[in-house]
Amino acid sequence: MDRTGRAPRGSAIRELLAITANRSVIGFGGGLTAPELFPAAELAECLARVLADRPASALQYGPTEGLAALRETLAARLSQRGIDVAPDGVLITTGSQQGLDLLAEAFLTKGSPVMIEAPTYVGALQALSAHEPEFKAFSVDGDGFQVDALEEWVDVHGRPDLIYTVPTFGNPSGVTMSYRRRERLIELARKLAVPLLEDDPYSELSYDGLPPVAMRAMPGGEDVIHVGTFSKVLAPGIRIGYVVAPRVVLERLILMKQGRDLHTDALAQNMVAEYCTRFGLDSHVERLRGSYRERRDAMLVALRRTMPASVSWTQPAGGMFLWLTLRAGRETGELLRTAVAAGVSFVPGTAFHADGGGANCMRLNFTSSSLEEIAQGVGILARLISDKA
Ligand SMILES: Cc1ncc(COP(=O)(O)O)c(C=O)c1O
Repeated sequence: MDRTGRAPRGSAIRELLAITANRSVIGFGGGLTAPELFPAAELAECLARVLADRPASALQYGPTEGLAALRETLAARLSQRGIDVAPDGVLITTGSQQGLDLLAEAFLTKGSPVMIEAPTYVGALQALSAHEPEFKAFSVDGDGFQVDALEEWVDVHGRPDLIYTVPTFGNPSGVTMSYRRRERLIELARKLAVPLLEDDPYSELSYDGLPPVAMRAMPGGEDVIHVGTFSKVLAPGIRIGYVVAPRVVLERLILMKQGRDLHTDALAQNMVAEYCTRFGLDSHVERLRGSYRERRDAMLVALRRTMPASVSWTQPAGGMFLWLTLRAGRETGELLRTAVAAGVSFVPGTAFHADGGGANCMRLNFTSSSLEEIAQGVGILARLISDKA
């Protein structure tokens, strides 16, 4: 239970992950990366090297803000994407989830208005919910957050305490916010002096050319709080994320992090820094892009071939998910049980809404199944949906 006495929002997802661990079910439900693409041998080499060369750094307590070498690597990597930040402007966190958690605590108290997308990332809903804010959800169209609606809300109600967005290859929508909307959101946040949180785990998984520019890299975006992770480009089990934020914010987060876990796992930080230096992340990311692009395309082809006309879906240019909308009144929560019995899982749309919306929607993951499983799983879903389309 959380402080409001409600069951934690993620429990449905955890149950689903348990289902996807059952190999007889095709798992479109979890947010998993492809395990066969983990660079395990290279990471083993890095781990051995780190333990042999730098045991004192890898096995000793370290600085709360993170390993200097990794912060340098990250600052250099971010600068390639136009994000101008010095190594001491980066805080290493235990997954980007910890960044979201710390930021929620830094900015929210009970009743704080928070602007979010509908649908939005379920883990952010969990982190934010712990502080009992008032969620103000704005639906996403093909260009992302509908900034008009945010502006109208502000005109009536005033300043929110936080704006949270996954602007690039969104989880769960697969949608990317347009440049113009990004500009207007930055402008709105600046005008109101509201923290604007850009959660960006997916930019590097771009399948149709270069990813869009991060808001933190845009003119006027210097104060945007940018949260990222190695989870999707290396391995989520390593639990290394990061936060780029203005100094005053970063200092607060560092103090809070000290009280939680002193610092992020030093062995893991050393291993990732060694991997980036020794192998470079780019060639691995290129491999991921090639494989995930094929899987995304396979899912789009299978959907086009099999789904009834009443179903629509997003066309993600990157990331790991696409979002299906069934006809109004069709409950995907109910469908899930039948689907799992028939051998395929997904996440019902309500999990990604603060208010129970999205009941006729579902999120499908395309990165953790093979091309054959994708074709087969979509076929099963289409049959079940068509039964009562
Ligand atoms: C939008 C978004 N933010 C944050 C995370 C958390 O990632 P991690 O804690 O593994 O860095 C995820 C994971 O799926 C995500 O999709």
